[in-house]
Amino acid sequence: MARLLVTGGAGYIGAHTMVELLAAGHNVICLDNFSNSVPEAVARVQQIAGRAVTLAIGDVRDDALLRRLLAEHPIDAVIHFAALKAVGESVARPLDYYDNNVYGTLVLLRAMAAAGVKRIVFSSSATVYGAPEQLPLTEGAPVRTTNPYGASKAMVEQMLRDLCAADPEWSAVSLRYFNPIGAHASGRIGEDPRDTPNNLFPYVTQVAVGKRERLSIWGNDWPTPDGTGVRDYLHVVDLAAGHLRAVDYSAAHQGFMPINLGTGRGTSVLELVRAFESATGIAIPHSFAPRRPGDIAACWADPSLAARLLGWRAERSVEQACADGWRWQQHNPEGYRAGK
Ligand code: NAD
Ligand code: UD1
Repeated sequence: MARLLVTGGAGYIGAHTMVELLAAGHNVICLDNFSNSVPEAVARVQQIAGRAVTLAIGDVRDDALLRRLLAEHPIDAVIHFAALKAVGESVARPLDYYDNNVYGTLVLLRAMAAAGVKRIVFSSSATVYGAPEQLPLTEGAPVRTTNPYGASKAMVEQMLRDLCAADPEWSAVSLRYFNPIGAHASGRIGEDPRDTPNNLFPYVTQVAVGKRERLSIWGNDWPTPDGTGVRDYLHVVDLAAGHLRAVDYSAAHQGFMPINLGTGRGTSVLELVRAFESATGIAIPHSFAPRRPGDIAACWADPSLAARLLGWRAERSVEQACADGWRWQQHNPEGYRAGK
């Protein structure tokens, strides 16, 4: 069993991953500054898993804190979720994104190197591929980003690639997530956006719970079968399980390895809405609106490298993700803030 430092563990994907790590017997130290999450998420992770997490409240950019944490705990590997993630905000405030996402990772890597901890699993994104030339997307597709958020992910990947080239003892697995949706089956943890959701799935669940009147579908004139955007939606618990596999992989393999985590299937906005309606029995009022600037028509993964290297495949359906995501939203209409 490993001792793992999980940065950003209180966030949406981090919380689900901590549950899986604890269930597998790993020891978890969570570092989070709660800039986009709340301590209640960590409390619920511990309730679900029936095991404790060591919580360190602080920032990944705090060099002294990181060095202390790495000196106090014999860490085997780091899973690095902590980042800002809103594309539109990154265009408006690019320096905040480079500071938090790129500089934050630099501080973390320096502290890891100083402590002799040379294994990292990094949260990357399919956004590094920009507008795909060919589908499905393989890891060999060119990296060309279209906004500062995506650029920050590509820059971190470059740092990891260079670091692994310089020191063959390093192992860096960069997981390029497609579109995580849904929630833990308990309905106790889930996605908890602070403001109006930017992403489709939390918007749909907020319409379902009555917080928003209707969904605007950004464009029905895309070159896709039904004219709406197509994405690769994967259940967040499948995504969490992928991290478990990546941690194991990094124990036995050195070097830099980017790996897609997706289902390999594309789902349109209209298909997702229908899947949600059939999984929950709730109608989602929607209307069409102009395309969102910066959007792409379609994007889905070739997940065969993850199957080959990690022995990982997404197992849960979009319908399952809808049912689980709805359970979370229904029982927590105000997210964690209700404190139930
Ligand atoms: P999230 O905002 O829910 O979680 C991020 C967590 O990191 C939060 O708890 C936040 O408080 C913390 N954090 C942010 N900056 C920090 C800092 N400087 N120091 C310490 N803690 C900090 O986001 P998420 O959806 O769980 O995403 C996790 C990671 O996955 C991010 O790196 C994100 O870019 C990446 N990612 C997310 C998606 C997605 O659709 N959710 C897709 C691709 C990649
Ligand atoms: C967004 C991010 C991307 C990130 C990904 C996963 C942008 C431009 N890109 O991409 O960097 O990696 O999330 O977190 O923000 N849609 C609607 N109505 C809505 C919301 C979305 O029709 O209210 C449509 C979109 O046009 C798209 C699909 O739903 O076709 C999915 O959108 P979204 O959930 O934002 O994910 P991505 O566009 O893949």
